[in-house]
Amino acid sequence: MSGQNEGMTLDHSLLARALGTELADQGVPEPIAELFARVPRHRCLSHVYWTDDRARHDWVADPDEWLRTAYTDQPLTTQRDDGADGGMGIATSSSSAPSVMARMLAAADLHPGHDVLEVGTGTGYNAGLLTELLGPDQVTSIEVDEILAATARANLAGAGYLPTILAGDGEDPPVAAASFDRLIATCTVAAVPWRWLDVVRPGGRIVTPWSPSPGAPGGVLAALDTGSGRACGRFEGSLAFMWARGQRWPNQPAPDPTARVEHAEHTSGDPREPWLDGEMAVLLSLLVPDWSFGMGMEPGTEEPHVWVSSAPCSSWLRLHADGRVESGGPRPLWEQFTNAIEWWQAQGAPPITEFGLTVDRDRALQTVWLHSPDSAVWTTPRSPA
Ligand SMILES: C[S@@+](CC[C@H](N)C(=O)[O-])C[C@H]1O[C@@H](n2cnc3c(N)ncnc32)[C@H](O)[C@@H]1O
Repeated sequence: MSGQNEGMTLDHSLLARALGTELADQGVPEPIAELFARVPRHRCLSHVYWTDDRARHDWVADPDEWLRTAYTDQPLTTQRDDGADGGMGIATSSSSAPSVMARMLAAADLHPGHDVLEVGTGTGYNAGLLTELLGPDQVTSIEVDEILAATARANLAGAGYLPTILAGDGEDPPVAAASFDRLIATCTVAAVPWRWLDVVRPGGRIVTPWSPSPGAPGGVLAALDTGSGRACGRFEGSLAFMWARGQRWPNQPAPDPTARVEHAEHTSGDPREPWLDGEMAVLLSLLVPDWSFGMGMEPGTEEPHVWVSSAPCSSWLRLHADGRVESGGPRPLWEQFTNAIEWWQAQGAPPITEFGLTVDRDRALQTVWLHSPDSAVWTTPRSPA
């Protein structure tokens, strides 16, 4: 929102400074925390945005509340349903939580002179932070939604920031090969686009939210060092980001509720537990490839069940609060999960940050590994091509 101060009695620069201090107190490196103290987040926001509790914050209704919330460490949804009216209110663009942005900036290991490509301009706030750090000539950001790209460009210019903002598909950015040292994606991918390996120079780094499949639980922050036709690096912990537009949840349906139960067994505890614990569920996706999950309700029960479906085949699993484990299809999903959890415990229950990813363009493979790239946990074809 360009040049907007009317109706506000609060001083945004004090709020920004307090946000920078809050981030520094959380352990964000000083040079990164300072960016948040200097770049005016509110100049990148729309008149209306939503916080995660779905509360609507309207500048016209209450400018001070709108401004105060803008400088809190929260994600602010700025577009729903790709900007269409009458949708379900699904967040399709946002200004991510400042602490999450700070994590990504730290993971990118940025230095003066670095050329950076951001995929997912959104509000333009992150492009503003990058420009404050590196200068306008070093920063390019691409946004798939033309209106968002134009708005971000105008808002950033109004605040004195002039990075290059492109409208287009950041999975196939219209930029020259080997023209960037860093690529920071602010949308999740399951398949790291091969083009990213072209546009980032060997010896550079790709920082991206990654999840093995759109139906997997949550995601992780991948920091991948680039080499010739390869990118490889550790995960920097879990995080949840909206999906890159071309890789969104493909509506893989829950298992057919009338499908014949081919195997049934009973566990002593609640078999849903690993899937209901956010961090453990993400770990499961690093331990076992190619599945998606969701929750469902059966008539006559009070607690939802967890369902899991196998991406490459029609196998499925239903896990109930009362200990029932039901499954169908040829893939022994339950056995695979229980074996994987046992194996992970035998390795000393390593955290997400001990796992990493290699994407290999020549062999069209992606590998999740533990501790080092030569200790594969699983390897799958990287799709789509
Ligand atoms: C979480 S928001 C980005 C936040 C942003 N960096 C900021 O500072 O406000 C994710 C953005 O990625 C955009 N996006 C999704 N898929 C994309 C693609 N293939 N290319 C470019 N942008 C994409 C969405 O339209 C959305 O605006």
